[in-house]
Amino acid sequence: MSIEWNDKYKTNIIEVDTQHKRLFALMKELETLYNAHKGSLVENHNTIQKAISDLEQYTISHFLIEERIMEENNYPDLENHKLQHDKFTDKILEFKEILKAKNNLQESELEENLDHILKFLGTWLTNHIMIKDMDYKPFIKHVL
Ligand SMILES: [Fe+2]
Repeated sequence: MSIEWNDKYKTNIIEVDTQHKRLFALMKELETLYNAHKGSLVENHNTIQKAISDLEQYTISHFLIEERIMEENNYPDLENHKLQHDKFTDKILEFKEILKAKNNLQESELEENLDHILKFLGTWLTNHIMIKDMDYKPFIKHVL
């Protein structure tokens, strides 16, 4: 699978679109690392861990900004939207825990886990933008 930004993901809220593009880029980076190091993922786990931390940090700050925009604009489904965000950050945390146990991880297990996380994150992000983020779009009258 390939993780790419597409104009169909545009919310036309500039701040949000810019941040979503960066999220796609960070995921792409992780995917590229995964493909480049297949067969030696255990050896390269530090590089991979760094890419996951970058993605995690950016995601957390993006979600906070997005949640603030929704709040400021009295978006009625904010709580539900926040829960969706939490699912995503929980998944990244879960994967970080798996990576921490790297001494016991076999190459094949790591490959399987990375493959799974990449699919999950890619599917989650595209679905989330298309359904959940598009849902708040008409409510946003001003940005921060
Ligand atoms: Fe969102």
